[in-house]
Amino acid sequence: NERSFVAVKPDGVQRRLVGEIVRRFEKRGFKLVGLKLVQASEELLREHYWDLRNKPFFSSLIRYMSSGPVVVMVWQGLDVVKTARKMLGETNPADSLPGTVRGDFCVEVGRNVIHGSDSVASAQKEISLWFRQNELQLWESSSRNWIY
Ligand code: GTP
Ligand code: MG
Repeated sequence: NERSFVAVKPDGVQRRLVGEIVRRFEKRGFKLVGLKLVQASEELLREHYWDLRNKPFFSSLIRYMSSGPVVVMVWQGLDVVKTARKMLGETNPADSLPGTVRGDFCVEVGRNVIHGSDSVASAQKEISLWFRQNELQLWESSSRNWIY
């Protein structure tokens, strides 16, 4: 079963958007298998955003992401990686449609509230970077047969 790594960034936590974001993923029908509030180290964040290390905004991105706690989550379900990206909206909030998290709650690319894995392969890397195996719960959802 497919999993995605989703994080509410420090601005999303500060702006009390955690509940709203969790609610959207729950209501869509995805299953929560991991969740925690963490102050990410710069080292962890540099690893997380390694692909962007040569971008001009890299150091400001690391500063932003370490400016306060983030809520990191693992969601499971059919096509969750692709669907989560749709629910997030585009990288730049100005390109994000209303109805998406970024399209509803932010205006600036450097304060775009939420992260979601961009592929199944990055989801696997990100989940193992942010979570220990014993922080992920295997459980049977009672609504499963009504969703699938
Ligand atoms: P994530 O879900 O956070 O990975 O965003 P993304 O996949 O939509 O975009 P990408 O991985 O390309 O960039 C990661 C993050 O870097 C973005 O979410 C932004 O917070 C930030 N970022 C991307 N492009 C810019 C930019 O041009 N300027 C600034 N200041 N930040 C940027
Ligand atoms: Mg990305």
